[in-house]
Amino acid sequence: MSYVEVENITKRFGDVTAVDDVSFTAEKGEFVSLLGPSGCGKTTTLRMIAGLEMPTEGTIRIDGDDVTDRPPYEREIGMVFQHYALFPHKTVGENIGFPLKMRGVPEAERRERVADVLERVRLPEVMDRSPEDLSGGQQQRVALARALVFEPDVLLMDEPLSALDRVLREQMRVEVERIQREFGITTIYVTHDQAEAFAMSDRVAVLDDGRLSQQGRPLDIYESPDSEFVANFIGQSSQLSGAVGTPDGTPVLETDAGVTFELPQSVAATTGDRLSVFLRAEKLDVSREPTGAANEFPAEIATTNYLGEKTQFFCRLEDGTELIVAKHGFTDVESFEPGDTVYVSVPPENLVVARDPGTDQQSGTAGESTA
Ligand SMILES: Nc1ncnc2c1ncn2[C@@H]1O[C@H](COP(=O)(O)OP(=O)(O)O)[C@@H](O)[C@H]1O
Ligand SMILES: [Mg+2]
Repeated sequence: MSYVEVENITKRFGDVTAVDDVSFTAEKGEFVSLLGPSGCGKTTTLRMIAGLEMPTEGTIRIDGDDVTDRPPYEREIGMVFQHYALFPHKTVGENIGFPLKMRGVPEAERRERVADVLERVRLPEVMDRSPEDLSGGQQQRVALARALVFEPDVLLMDEPLSALDRVLREQMRVEVERIQREFGITTIYVTHDQAEAFAMSDRVAVLDDGRLSQQGRPLDIYESPDSEFVANFIGQSSQLSGAVGTPDGTPVLETDAGVTFELPQSVAATTGDRLSVFLRAEKLDVSREPTGAANEFPAEIATTNYLGEKTQFFCRLEDGTELIVAKHGFTDVESFEPGDTVYVSVPPENLVVARDPGTDQQSGTAGESTA
C-alpha cells in the first residue's frame, strides 16, 4: 500500500473531461511530480487530492484512508500555489501562524512553532515584517512555511516557482528539495517544466490531455519513454518512422525518410512492423566525413545555433525531414555553414524505439539493451 493512492480518477466539467481515468501513487516521504503541458489536467488533479474539487469517478486514499468524500479541512494537506496568496496586511508571523490559529493552537505555542519553521526554511528574523517587504523568493518560502507549520500529511505544490525569474527559480529548486527532504514530507508537485520535475523528483507522472502517460524515475522516463508523447515531450528529439525489413537476415528499420537503422538488441522486431525511432539530439554524433560508424547517414545543415554550453545543428535529410543534433562544449561551430553536408550517426543502443499507434503495444526501448 502506498501512502497516497490516486485510483482511476476522472473529472468532467460539463462536456470537458479535464482528468481521464488517472492513477498514480506516492510513497511516504516521496517527492512525486505531475508533469505535462498547459491544460493537461495537472491543477485539477491536485485540487481533487486537496478536496477542493470532487472527482466525477475514482478514489483517493491517504495512509490507507479513503478521503474522496472528505472536505479539505479534514485532510491535513498543505498547499503552495504559484501566487503566494499571503495576507498583505498581516505580518509574516501571522501569515504562517494562521493554520495553527484555525486549529486552536494558543498564541505562545504558535510563535514558537512559527519561529522554528522560519529557521528551517532559512528565513529567520522576518517574523514581524510585512510580506510585502520581502522578495519573491522569500515570499515563496513564507508560503512554504505556512503550508508546513501544522505538520500536514501531504504537501501539494502547483507551479510554485513559475513567477520567479530563471536564476532564482533554479536556486529555489535546490531549496524546495532540501526543505522537502528535511521535513520528510510526502510531496506532490505540479509543473510543466521538465528540468524542474527532473531536478527535484523521486518519480515523475507525465500527463497528456487528461490521461496518465507514464510514471517512473526521471532516468526511466528519459531513457525508456513508453509512448510517442513522452518521447517527444521530454527532451529534444527527432522522430523517424518506418517499417521493419530484413534485407540481410537481421531486422532493420527502413524509415520513410530513406535512412535505415540497425535496432537495439532489446527490441523484438518482425518484418512489416511499423516503428518509430526517436533520435535524442545529444545522443547523435556529427562529423564532416563518413566515419563508418553504425547507423550513419548524410544530412544537410539548415542552420546552426551556438548557445554557449551547446551548439544545435538543424539538419535536413534528403526527403526534407528535419533533424536536430546538439553537441556540448562545441567550439568549431564557425566552420559549419548552411548547405554543408555532414554525417550523422547514432549507436543502435542510443535509439529510443516505439511502436506506431494503431499497431501493437509498445516495444522494448533503448535503455534496456545489452551493454
Ligand atoms: N472549473 C472548470 N470548468 C471548466 N473547465 C475547466 C475547469 N477547470 C479546468 N478546466 C479545464 O480542464 C482542463 C485541464 O485544466 P487544468 O487542470 O487547469 O490543467 P493544467 O493545470 O494542466 O494546465 C482544461 O481544458 C481546462 O480548461
Ligand atoms: Mg495548472
